[in-house]
Amino acid sequence: MQIIHTVSDLRAALKNQSSIGFVPTMGNLHAGHIQLVEIAKQHAACVVVSIFVNPLQFSPTEDLANYPRTLVADCDKLAIAGCDIVFAPSVGEMYADFDGKNLNQSMTILPPPIANVLCGATRLSHFAGVATVVMKLFNMVQPSVAVFGKKDFQQLFIIKEMVRQFNLPIEIIAGETIREASGLALSSRNGYLSDAQRIQAAQLNSALRAIVHALKNGARDFLNLENNATEQLNNAGWEVDYISIRSSLTLQPAQSQDKHLVVLGAAKINNNQAGKTRLIDNIEEDI
Ligand code: PAJ
Repeated sequence: MQIIHTVSDLRAALKNQSSIGFVPTMGNLHAGHIQLVEIAKQHAACVVVSIFVNPLQFSPTEDLANYPRTLVADCDKLAIAGCDIVFAPSVGEMYADFDGKNLNQSMTILPPPIANVLCGATRLSHFAGVATVVMKLFNMVQPSVAVFGKKDFQQLFIIKEMVRQFNLPIEIIAGETIREASGLALSSRNGYLSDAQRIQAAQLNSALRAIVHALKNGARDFLNLENNATEQLNNAGWEVDYISIRSSLTLQPAQSQDKHLVVLGAAKINNNQAGKTRLIDNIEEDI
């Protein structure tokens, strides 16, 4: 496995590859990421994993500085998983006009309005930052296949839309959400939680599962289901950002005749440093 830090070295290493599978990440890898690498291996001769904590997708109040950076451990895991190339660029390599303070990426991808709801409602310009860095990474790696997790359902939706609307010759494949036995979705941000907080954190998934259960039993009062779950989590000490039942095909609010649904949630939970950690989860369900 090669570890590469510059775009020119990456291009040289990929020059004669017949098919390239790509998994973009921000590192601090867990079984959810590794599963995406395994999927990529099934679809391409050469698998590239990028590790880059992208400043453009963090707002000034978010955890950019504290985001866990564990390159050596990540590379060990990727070597075992059979990754061929790790691409770990510096901020200056990714953003050529970076002056040590400002990224100066004055051209960006403007995502569709669906990027301004759910996570985008509170994380302003987050998805523009994601789409822009993913577009840059796609241009650097030039994969035939790229694999994203369903854990970030809205992100996956926006990336698929970007590929479609910009006619990118890349097949997007989705990996299922990998969870702890408790139901808690694996996330690099779970590392901010104590053992006790991790146990509590499974309540987010339980709340979504309870909604799915009700939907399967015929409940269609979406607003009521969303409000009840929100109230329960808030009463249990969470600070709910949203609980939303939507069409998994369009990501628009669910209509009573919709059969393909996704129940999404985002909420903040107290963390070790007596601050708050924002967790997200979703369950896709055809009813
Ligand atoms: P990151 O949070 O590191 O996630 C990288 C990929 O792993 C994403 O596609 C995400 O959906 C997937 N993933 C995370 N947790 C998962 C889990 N428990 N099960 C399955 N897949 C999981 O998402 C990003 O980085 C960034 O926004 C990025 C796309 C790299 C752009 O900077």
